[in-house]
Amino acid sequence: MAPSAKLFAALLFVSFLSKENSQCFLSNITIRQSMTGFQIHGMTEWNTTVSNNCLCSQSEVKLDCRGFQTTKSIDPLILAITDTECLVNNGLPIFNSTPITFTYAQNPQFNFKPISSQIACS
Ligand SMILES: *[C@@H]1O[C@H](CO)[C@@H](O)[C@H](O)[C@H]1NC(C)=O
Ligand SMILES: *[C@@H]1O[C@H](CO)[C@@H](O)[C@H](O)[C@H]1NC(C)=O
Repeated sequence: MAPSAKLFAALLFVSFLSKENSQCFLSNITIRQSMTGFQIHGMTEWNTTVSNNCLCSQSEVKLDCRGFQTTKSIDPLILAITDTECLVNNGLPIFNSTPITFTYAQNPQFNFKPISSQIACS
């Protein structure tokens, strides 16, 4: 084999290995929002779904909540709000098949961004 062919084969093998590992990332936490059609204290109500589209569980999922102000209260076991961060699901793992949903009311829609999580593959 020519050296470049060896290198190519090695790279192919490495990329194969990393696919087999099926890594999970914070980016595998996805957030979808839709209008419920209701107004709460003059604010649009949104239904928000936090999903983990990876087979490994993700716990201690925290969202950037700077500027989040809901006129509808949220169960802190589902979303605990501090000045800057929101903790999802009381820090418990979010599994692939069990998204977390909550509703809130704010104009306009608030853009939640995941900032950290702990990934556990079993
Ligand atoms: C919010 O969205 C989820 C997922 O689509 C759905 O199961 C749930 O019924 C919705 N809840 C409300 C209040 O619209
Ligand atoms: C997890 O995120 C990575 C990078 O964003 C992506 O390549 C991978 O397909 C995601 N996994 C799943 C199961 O969606």
